[in-house]
Amino acid sequence: MKEFVQYMPTKVVFGRDTEKETGRLVKESGASRVLVIYGGGSAVRSGLLFRVEESLKEYGIVYEELSGVKPNPGLSLAREGVKKASSFGADLILAVGGGSVIDTAKAAALGAANPGTDIWEFWMGRAQTVKALPVGVVLTIPAAGSEMSDSAVLTDEDTKKKAGYNSDIVRPRFAVLNPELAYTLPKYQLACGIVDILMHTLERYFTPVAGNELTDELAEGLMRTVIRNGKKAYENQEDYDAMSELTWCASLSHNGLTGLGRPKDFACHKLGHELSGRFDEAHGATLSAVWGSWAKYVYQMDLDRFVRYGKQVWNIETEDKEEAALASIEQTEQFFRSLNMPVCLGELSIGVQTEGVLKSLAEYATKKDTVRLGCFKELTAQDAYEIYKEANHR
Ligand code: NZQ
Ligand code: ZN
Repeated sequence: MKEFVQYMPTKVVFGRDTEKETGRLVKESGASRVLVIYGGGSAVRSGLLFRVEESLKEYGIVYEELSGVKPNPGLSLAREGVKKASSFGADLILAVGGGSVIDTAKAAALGAANPGTDIWEFWMGRAQTVKALPVGVVLTIPAAGSEMSDSAVLTDEDTKKKAGYNSDIVRPRFAVLNPELAYTLPKYQLACGIVDILMHTLERYFTPVAGNELTDELAEGLMRTVIRNGKKAYENQEDYDAMSELTWCASLSHNGLTGLGRPKDFACHKLGHELSGRFDEAHGATLSAVWGSWAKYVYQMDLDRFVRYGKQVWNIETEDKEEAALASIEQTEQFFRSLNMPVCLGELSIGVQTEGVLKSLAEYATKKDTVRLGCFKELTAQDAYEIYKEANHR
């Protein structure tokens, strides 16, 4: 087991109607002036925003709103969030939405606490800070796990660069998780979320460090739970128990728990971010589109790991290791297909890409071959290109 630091400061309030506790949670955090951030309107249409704001009023919390966050959230709206939080004198940023809204809230929280530094400087690693306003979350979609994570992902609309900022200081102070809020999700978004939840643990599972018994068991249990309940929730979106399991899995899959004691890989996330940044494809869909090709490219680095994954997660008992490993990849892709998720670029809305585009995606992802992606196998620009090529059309 590798040395690790575990920090999970988010208070989770889980269950039906929990959004009505938002005001109390804000007050408990010591805040009284809140910038409420939300997306394109689903929270208004469902009545959620109204209920949240009623709860704020009940506790004497004053607030302003910032709306219009889009999936693959952009830097410009995040900068607007910084301005609004500063001019209003916000002492807490409240996200009512999914990963995109939460990440915009985290950006506003960072920017408002560090006047004078443009937020993108933090994303590019050119500025450091230990300060951010507290962030609270009312979650509407089990997916990105940003409600407990240390990360925030933004896209610079001018350069099309999608990048993450990682620091414990942006982990939310509280997260309200009401599984019923996900009943109104479009099926496609639900499926994207299920893929993302599974991927957050897969990307922590296939790593070079062995000897993490508990972490392995937690990871395998979480993956089995996501698969079982993902199928149920996809079939019947109002299955409260299934949506509950999925919601809790989403938060635990990306708060660090399923990767303690070993490094993260996250190569598929990097490959996916290039596709989202450039073509505005949904995050989860980019992951299912590349994972199988990545897995087939790297599985021989540690055949036993894939065999174990197949056995523990998919009940594959095949004696032949090579066959068992390939079967585990096939099963995973079948699962993605069962959710109508793409398993190649050709099945994304962008369709099959030219060799030139694939090369430039690989170059961009690896910063012209100066950085390596992942650690299960450290990918060069050539490796990334080979994976994109394999993923192009299958
Ligand atoms: O904007 P509205 O109208 O709310 O619609 C949203 C949006 O169109 C809709 N939606 C959300 N909840 C709904 C709903 N529609 C009806 N009913 C509901 N209850 O769903 C769409 C997608 O929302 P989004 O917030 O983009 O989803 P998700 O949570 O999947 O977030 C994706 C973003 O998070 C980033 C991704 O890269 C992507 O930008 N990630 C953030 C991470 C983090 N901060 O830790 C980690 C992840 O790996 C990921 O990179
Ligand atoms: Zn993700």
